[in-house]
Amino acid sequence: MIPLVDLKAQYAAIQPEVDAAVQRVLRDASFVLGREVEAFERAFAAYCGVPHAVGVASGTAALHLALQTCGVGAGDEVITTPHTFIATAEAISHCGARPVFVDIDPATYNLDVARLEAAISSRTRAILPVHLYGHPVPMDRVQAVARRHGLPVIEDAAQAHGAAYDGRRVGAWGDAACFSFYPGKNLGAYGDGGMVVTGDAGIAARVRMLRDHGRRAKYAHEVIGYGERLDALQAAVLGVKLHHLDAWNAARQRAATRYRDLLAGVEVVLPPDGARAQPVYHLFVIRTAERDRVLADLRAAGIGAGVHYPRPLHLQPAYAHLGYAAGSFPHAERAAREVLSLPLYPEITDDQLAAVATVLRATVRACQSSGHVS
Ligand SMILES: Cc1ncc(COP(=O)(O)O)c(C=O)c1O
Repeated sequence: MIPLVDLKAQYAAIQPEVDAAVQRVLRDASFVLGREVEAFERAFAAYCGVPHAVGVASGTAALHLALQTCGVGAGDEVITTPHTFIATAEAISHCGARPVFVDIDPATYNLDVARLEAAISSRTRAILPVHLYGHPVPMDRVQAVARRHGLPVIEDAAQAHGAAYDGRRVGAWGDAACFSFYPGKNLGAYGDGGMVVTGDAGIAARVRMLRDHGRRAKYAHEVIGYGERLDALQAAVLGVKLHHLDAWNAARQRAATRYRDLLAGVEVVLPPDGARAQPVYHLFVIRTAERDRVLADLRAAGIGAGVHYPRPLHLQPAYAHLGYAAGSFPHAERAAREVLSLPLYPEITDDQLAAVATVLRATVRACQSSGHVS
């Protein structure tokens, strides 16, 4: 069995450090916000190369609070991609605003910046690009469009801790950026967690208030806020793991390079590898027209392949009210039919990578010889 991700292997590698951090929090008995959270906020801000970071309860909360703080409210529109996890769009909806989708660039699976400007209307209030699979969006081009229209950019960096574009880390490009620390992420907690990072002290202060019931001081509630705080146990674990993030991302990159070598000549489309992008391979996503058959064969061989994501957001029942039809975003719809995530995690061994490649090669050949793959 080769899992899609292996969190047990990661814990085994860092157990003494993690256990010591957890014990420290238990002895301290300060469980919500407090100095563990503050220390991790400082460390993560420095990692991203921004002055401010605010710990929150999840990536979804980070997106919601960042959007609200940037002025997104009822009746507004926010432009994003339909090929992402639903939390991206939910955060827009939680502000009372409407997600406006633009199709993806089929080469990168990210929002196609060439289509961005045409989607801007008088109601557009923000742009929300997603660095999907750990592959960064060309942020210079997003920023150029946003500046022309006076719009804030909020990065969804939930899958891209440590990724960079033109050498500048994601999180350091937008007016604000949002991270998830869901356990399987490149930097994952042992539960839920999230972070808003920003260069703007005003945005940071407002997110800080909103995450904690609209207050800066106990029982002095200046605005109506939320209970969306990061807890100290998660912050302590994340503080330990942050020291390993660059090494883990490098191991992911090595595994991705190995897959590229092993899969040379196999008729599947490999992940993008642009010169200006420095991806962190949250997922290693290939595409093939015979995805469902290949997926079934991999799973039958004990390989934990996955699909991220099988249905684009504009075709989800939850977003039927937006009125998009099948065919609205052909590249996103095709990606949903064809993408396949292969096992990839920092601890994956060469033998495991080779085993996945062997099964994949055989499966794709079998599909070809039965005339399914063009
Ligand atoms: C692209 C994207 N955005 C947002 C989220 C939401 O993060 P969380 O699960 O921490 O709420 C996730 C992760 O689940 C994600 O992958």
